[in-house]
Amino acid sequence: MSARPADVDVRIVEVGPRDGLQNEAAIVPTAEKIALVDRLSATGLRTIEATSFVSPKWVPQLADAADVLAGIARRDGVAYPVLVPNETGYDRARAAGADEIAVFTAASEAFNRRNINAGIEASLARFAPVLARAQADGVRVRGYVSTVLGCPYQGEVPLADVVRVARALHAMGCYEISLGDTIGVGTPARARAMLRAVADEVPMQALAVHFHDTWGQALANVLACIEAGVRVVDAAVAGTGGCPYARGASGNVATEDVVYLLEGLGLRTGVDLPLLAQTGAWLSARLGRETGSKAGRALAASA
Ligand code: HMG
Ligand code: MG
Repeated sequence: MSARPADVDVRIVEVGPRDGLQNEAAIVPTAEKIALVDRLSATGLRTIEATSFVSPKWVPQLADAADVLAGIARRDGVAYPVLVPNETGYDRARAAGADEIAVFTAASEAFNRRNINAGIEASLARFAPVLARAQADGVRVRGYVSTVLGCPYQGEVPLADVVRVARALHAMGCYEISLGDTIGVGTPARARAMLRAVADEVPMQALAVHFHDTWGQALANVLACIEAGVRVVDAAVAGTGGCPYARGASGNVATEDVVYLLEGLGLRTGVDLPLLAQTGAWLSARLGRETGSKAGRALAASA
């Protein structure tokens, strides 16, 4: 199955309801999470990571995952993947009606131990039964590799480790591998080199990029990777996001900014930018701060 609908040139994977909210200290009411997903699906986004079935002790913000999934109005043609760390998460996700999941590990041992309490090999072993059950159930599985350009605990992450973990997830049956600069330390030349190294082993059509914006490089990294051939980009509305177990991680690249960039390159995203920017402004107001999207701010100022 193609990773991208025929009428778009780049598929954006909106991770705001999951990555965007998981780092928020104040619990966002379930009804607002549901409203966020529904607003996002109205903008034309085709993939919206709706929530996460991780341990509620580890990420209390997303303890209401089942209620969120039950409450959203599913639109035809929109996929609503959810994060799953293990078989317990898979059971919960399936009971809540999930038909697409994402498993996640990292290229760094040290980060993995803090984030999922397991080393790389142990995490892959944990995913094996999840992938086997997903395949039997007809559930699509996306895979994440975190810390692809640096780790807050181990520092440098060898490219060979990124390639090895991405290849392993792909070989296990993940239809797409998202390469995550979890702490936003990458720069365009390194991002491009990392993508190319992985693409030597895993087909480019099966790769996505996932940038956090700690050093202000996320949009430039997206451009470098688009130029290198990637056609799936993760982003979070209003630039929300961060991982509670990655010291120094900040927001994701803002979806509004990615849409503006891509459409400016003549690449169709299928996303209604003004509607998306309204959603970003709405979410930011609810979170009590200004949007992290420059395009969102510019649109609001010109309205
Ligand atoms: P653990 O404590 O080692 O788990 O956590 P365990 O298997 O030993 O189980 C301990 C208890 O938790 C048991 O309950 C389990 O049933 C329960 P008890 O017997 O004590 O009552 N449990 C669960 N409950 C609900 N749902 C579950 C689940 N699993 C176990 N799925 C675990 C291991 C993986 C569960 C934990 O470390 C965890 O949930 N970590 C998630 C951390 C997280 O969500 N981080 C953020 C997402 S990753 C990210 O942001 C990066 C990304 O955006 C890409 C990028 O930017 O690079 C994707
Ligand atoms: Mg992330």
